[in-house]
Amino acid sequence: MANRVEEAKGCGFDIPLVMYEERITQELSLPHVVTMKSRRLRKDDIFITSYPKSGTHWVWEIVNMIVAGKAEYAKHWQNQAFLEFRSEAELDEIPSPRIFFTHLLPRQMPKEVWEGKCHVIHIDRNPKDAIVSFYAQHTNQNYHNKSKPAAFTGTWDQYVHAHVKGTVPFDSILEHVLAWSKVPELHPAVPYCQVHYEDLKRDDVAQVRRLAEFLVRPLEDKVYVEIAKACRFEKLKHASENIKDQTFHNKWNKGSTGYFRKGESGDWKNWFTVAQSETFDRAYEGTFQRKFPY
Ligand code: A3P
Repeated sequence: MANRVEEAKGCGFDIPLVMYEERITQELSLPHVVTMKSRRLRKDDIFITSYPKSGTHWVWEIVNMIVAGKAEYAKHWQNQAFLEFRSEAELDEIPSPRIFFTHLLPRQMPKEVWEGKCHVIHIDRNPKDAIVSFYAQHTNQNYHNKSKPAAFTGTWDQYVHAHVKGTVPFDSILEHVLAWSKVPELHPAVPYCQVHYEDLKRDDVAQVRRLAEFLVRPLEDKVYVEIAKACRFEKLKHASENIKDQTFHNKWNKGSTGYFRKGESGDWKNWFTVAQSETFDRAYEGTFQRKFPY
């Protein structure tokens, strides 16, 4: 039987991948993932965890503003603080409080996180929307160079089925959601807050307040409104692409929408066929032993 990296390549993925701790892992991140568990943390470090395309840029910016106490954009793109793609020395240069983000599983995180040392914010999004968003990234982000412009060159149908099987970079979205959903039960002493992309879309001000209270950094009511407004899709897209220092911004192919594509809930309905949707629902039910909730 082909190993899972070979299966991912067979589906149309064309980026260097390896198996590590039973997860399909980007080769580029391997040296950092290998040393991750023994990383030394600071007490005020904040971790934002998510499966890719769940709204990480959005929440990361909100948390930066909460920490700053005002609606002022962070200087750099969040990739500066991408836990598994930066060395310990690089991350040491970030001033406290460091606001990391990661797509690792709980069991791959620095051990000190589970000693209750830091605040952890986990983002969930309808996995079907995250898959559509990831497809746009894998077919538009320039991972290589001009001669090999896309990380994924297969069809949309192959892409959906690769996600159903979990043979994709960052591995299975369903296993990722499942593992993080168990954190409150497994680590009750860890300050842990779950944020849903869909709740942010419904009422961003309430979620900004909730996050500030969770981080024990309450602000005036008007500041919650200012932060929520500054982080709305068009504003954050504009600020990220035009105001921020671009050092940590990955390259995208010309004409693509980049990280800020559409910013909607439910776009999956424009992509998934009924058959693809039912196949995904069955995979969800197999993993969670309950109906697909979205
Ligand atoms: P779409 O591709 O569906 O538009 P991540 O930051 O984890 O990579 O997630 C990216 C997704 O979050 C993209 O989804 C992006 O447009 C969306 N997003 C980013 N900022 C947003 C905002 N302020 N409001 C709504 N969606 C946002």
